[in-house]
Amino acid sequence: MTTSALNSNAHPALSPAREVSDEIVLDVTGQIPAELRGTLYRNGPGRFEGGGFVAQHAFDGDGLISKFVIDGGAVRFQSRYVRTSKFRQEEAGNGAAVRGMGNQRPGGILANIGRFPADSANTHAVVQANRLLALSDAGRPWEIDLDDLTTRGACDFDGKLPVLSRFSPHPRFDPVTGEMFNFGLDFTPHLSAKLPITMHCYRVDRAGRLHTQATVPLRYAYIQHDFAITEHYLVFVLAPIVLDPVQAMLGLKTAERAMSHRPDLGTKIVLVPRAGGRHREIECPPLMYIHINNAFEDRGDVVIDLVRYDHYDDFFDRARDFRTRSVVGGFASRVRVGTADKVTVEDFSDQQTELPQHDWRRTSREYRYGYHTTLDSRPGAVNRIVKVDAHTARHVEHVFEPGDAVGEPIFVPRSATAAEDDGWLLTVVYIAAEHRSALVVLDARDPSRAPIAVARLDRHFFPGFHGSFTSRVAAS
Ligand SMILES: [Fe+2]
Repeated sequence: MTTSALNSNAHPALSPAREVSDEIVLDVTGQIPAELRGTLYRNGPGRFEGGGFVAQHAFDGDGLISKFVIDGGAVRFQSRYVRTSKFRQEEAGNGAAVRGMGNQRPGGILANIGRFPADSANTHAVVQANRLLALSDAGRPWEIDLDDLTTRGACDFDGKLPVLSRFSPHPRFDPVTGEMFNFGLDFTPHLSAKLPITMHCYRVDRAGRLHTQATVPLRYAYIQHDFAITEHYLVFVLAPIVLDPVQAMLGLKTAERAMSHRPDLGTKIVLVPRAGGRHREIECPPLMYIHINNAFEDRGDVVIDLVRYDHYDDFFDRARDFRTRSVVGGFASRVRVGTADKVTVEDFSDQQTELPQHDWRRTSREYRYGYHTTLDSRPGAVNRIVKVDAHTARHVEHVFEPGDAVGEPIFVPRSATAAEDDGWLLTVVYIAAEHRSALVVLDARDPSRAPIAVARLDRHFFPGFHGSFTSRVAAS
């Protein structure tokens, strides 16, 4: 398939984004609430082609970090690509030599053997201990300047992150302790000596120091994108999607083609005690998902809310064929692990959504409201922000204009002590009619109402994958 053929039918939001290296002030319609003050950081693939590289997988687009600084009723904006090795190689005109998740280097096995897929740093932007990190599945953290978004370099937490461990793109933050939890797989014991794959569980304390909390041996290299925490556990739902690390590293196939769906393995739920001690493993029928919204403990049960897919292909084929317009999404679903290891799964939505969010002050604790988005890129499709009430299964939607692409909704409370749901939803929207992007502010209590404010850019960028809000106002 040629580049032009790849691009001709793609959603226009996927066309390459120009970075905004000097901060700009956005045009605001409506009124930004006076109490809404802080910085929204976003991350996502901003371009899928560069210097001869043409991404064959959605996760191979170059990470574009953006910031919306909200202060005094005004919104300032800036964006920069993460200066990964891949980005620099593309800028030097040598993109064809990049091995991605879905791209092989020209030259056959010898040109690919032993090479990890390049890190695009395109999945999440998180803030902790006065540090902004760009994260992805394929790599380790990149530290980004909180104010001007320049790439400071790789972050290994003062050498504490094991050399060959990943640092996954969905860390979780305990709202009570301020700790950041995460995990990372290390394939090298398996590749070098056929030993089990190691899943490192990490805790980063308030001061930004990384501690290895536990290591869990895994028989398979699970494609594990997300996890959750409760008050007492790190919670892993290991769906039966596995990578053959030998095939991937021998260069016989792309990393993406070395993945397979193995429903015969079932799903393994692993509960790792935060206080240390032996982890617990629970087997259940195969369950396919990518994102977890939240988890909590309920009278001895562990409750995990995730977006469940009926079929493996509903996500993985779409990610590979991301330029083909289609619907990506699963069903908001509640998984309950009982004290006798009984697992039940119950959908509480029949609408296909993704990128689930909640009030981060409720992370790891019982909560009520989920905020999702729809990802329908078909021509003229109507996308929505969907608020889901876990108590009543009631849905409230904000409906955007046909053709608009809508990003993850981030909840911001009205104040530190405001009730759950008393605040705003911030989401980046690609406005199809104007071929530009905007920050849209919705009332979280009733997102069906007209936006409270819309802050428009003079250009577009893909709404991206994930991001974070912090009350710190970034400097210009
Ligand atoms: Fe994700």
